[in-house]
Amino acid sequence: ALLSSALAHAQQYPNKTITMIVPFAAGGPTDTVARLVAQSMGTQLKQQIIIENVGGAGGTIGAARVAKAAPDGYTLFLHHIGHSTAPTLYRKLSYNSIDNFEPIGLITDVPMTFVARKDFPAKDLKELLAYVKANKDRVTYANAGVGSASHLCGMLFMTAIGTELTTVPYKGTGPAMNDLLGGQIDFMCDQTTNTTGQIKGEKIKVYGVTTKSRVPSLPNVPTMNEAGLPGFEVAVWHGLYAPKGTPKPVVDKLASALQYALKDPNVKQRFADLGTEPVAQNRATPEALRTHLKSEIDKWAPIIKKAGAYAD
Ligand code: MLT
Repeated sequence: ALLSSALAHAQQYPNKTITMIVPFAAGGPTDTVARLVAQSMGTQLKQQIIIENVGGAGGTIGAARVAKAAPDGYTLFLHHIGHSTAPTLYRKLSYNSIDNFEPIGLITDVPMTFVARKDFPAKDLKELLAYVKANKDRVTYANAGVGSASHLCGMLFMTAIGTELTTVPYKGTGPAMNDLLGGQIDFMCDQTTNTTGQIKGEKIKVYGVTTKSRVPSLPNVPTMNEAGLPGFEVAVWHGLYAPKGTPKPVVDKLASALQYALKDPNVKQRFADLGTEPVAQNRATPEALRTHLKSEIDKWAPIIKKAGAYAD
């Protein structure tokens, strides 16, 4: 009886609205990716997928919420590289990034950009580095909390220049961007999915992209490597998860809906406009995400420990 009801549930799935938890504030880069993917997946599944933004503590508040949600396929979780750095950054997490989640698939790798308020007194990265070192107690750096991508990029930056900076945490880089546009903070490292429009509108200054090669939609922006910080590379990978224990037939349905979304011409075009692209189809699978998450946790642990960047 149990087996048949589980099978019946899987066959009827989805027969009501699905919630996709985004662990950062609305209007930021993670939210942008989530809304594009959710809209297209919803079309494929013939069910609405609504976004719920649960911000705070670099994405770990949202993750904790999903870890405790019912494993019925009606709560999904879209998170990025922060899901692999949190286990090292937070020594007292209420969940395990691997054990409490069912991977569905990888989504996209998003480049980051170093950006500053419009009238920041540096015309290129070399001048920014000099200014920041000379004014290290005065400049302010924005991030989305310990565990966010902007925090990780900031940690790498401070390690590279050998200087601790004052950081201002937000519930997402959507709100942080508002203060950057208003000149309330000096600079940040944020994803092209959030900065491309402001860069093209010349509302903020940009000093480099954190990828090995230049970003096609921002052809005039040098890589950090070219601009003066050799080997400075970080790309923000994103994955889709469900709570551990979500039935395999449901996970498989979600994985194929994700693969559909990543082939959707509208999703591909919007990603391209925002400096990124969907992962190859064979990476939008539970196994590919499971493997990648584990290797990223192992990759970042020693780097974080060396930087001494702990949240608790
Ligand atoms: C966001 O969506 O606000 C960003 O992903 C925050 C971050 O990770 O820097």
